[in-house]
Amino acid sequence: MTEELRQTATALVAEGKGILAADESNGTMDKRLKAADVEPGEEMRRALRELLFTTEGVAEAISGIILYDETFHQSTADGTPFPRLLEDQGVVPGIKVDTGAKPLAGADGETVTEGLDGLRERLAEYYEGGARFAKWRGVITLDEHRPSRYCVHANAHALARYAALCQEAGIVPIVEPEVLMEGEHTIDRSEEVTGIVLEKVFDELRAQRVLLEGMLLKPNMVVAGYAGGEQPGHEEVAERTLRCLRRHVPAAVPGIVFLSGGQSDEDATVRLNVMNQMGPQPWEVSFSYGRGLQAAALTTWRGDSDNLAAAQAQYRHRARCTGAARRGEYSPDMERELLAS
Ligand code: 13P
Repeated sequence: MTEELRQTATALVAEGKGILAADESNGTMDKRLKAADVEPGEEMRRALRELLFTTEGVAEAISGIILYDETFHQSTADGTPFPRLLEDQGVVPGIKVDTGAKPLAGADGETVTEGLDGLRERLAEYYEGGARFAKWRGVITLDEHRPSRYCVHANAHALARYAALCQEAGIVPIVEPEVLMEGEHTIDRSEEVTGIVLEKVFDELRAQRVLLEGMLLKPNMVVAGYAGGEQPGHEEVAERTLRCLRRHVPAAVPGIVFLSGGQSDEDATVRLNVMNQMGPQPWEVSFSYGRGLQAAALTTWRGDSDNLAAAQAQYRHRARCTGAARRGEYSPDMERELLAS
């Protein structure tokens, strides 16, 4: 079991590769479809996922894809179940197993992520269906007074319980304590809070006997809040993020897979690139992007099959640029060159 976990975790952060997060819940996906003028609903959610998963020429940059429960049980139009479609391409199927962030009792405006009840049984079913890794996202809001220690503790505890259950089932947990990039905070405050959160998360992971070699960490980058005025340059974001991670993430963890968190596609790519150019680090420095990989494809597609090839080209383009950034070999020229190729 231990060896299987190590192998899966290492494969997910193989050279030049990272993860596509296509695990938006139905509600979130519908919101994104609507925003792109697509009629929301099950069929369009399925069609978008088929568009992404059948795009050729991305497996060189994508090691695994995180699915949502509905998607995990859906198939291509010609009947191939999505998890099998991915396996056939050498892409590891993953599954989001939390059931969302809910108000935390007694903590005004803060949340704790739910989904532990019945998780052992659900994990066994997902493993049976081909899932070899999972995701759970804790959400930490940042402002003058938040997060509370209570909120950090509740989320860290739940993340560790989830991670231990995953490993018992042979599934690699992606542990995601997301300090939100929304807000008016400075980059100093983001670095401070990200450090506090990571410290608590690793305390809980150790206390709950999680095998650090058989997990991946999915953190935010350290940035100033989107409403916080001027953003520091990419170098500073990269330096602060790496400094914070080096201080708080044990070297036993095989990989860091960043979330994109609403940064522009190019910012998410450039910052990952700069961090990889600053390597080597104790762990692989990779990605698990949702919006950062899919947003351009969705707005190009707009639910129209005539736009399918153009939308797939957009996704392939972002996957290649992000894969290059994973190696520290991205250059802004690629934005034009790759798209034209
Ligand atoms: P974004 O890259 O869009 O932030 O999504 C990643 C993710 O899976 C958040 O849980």
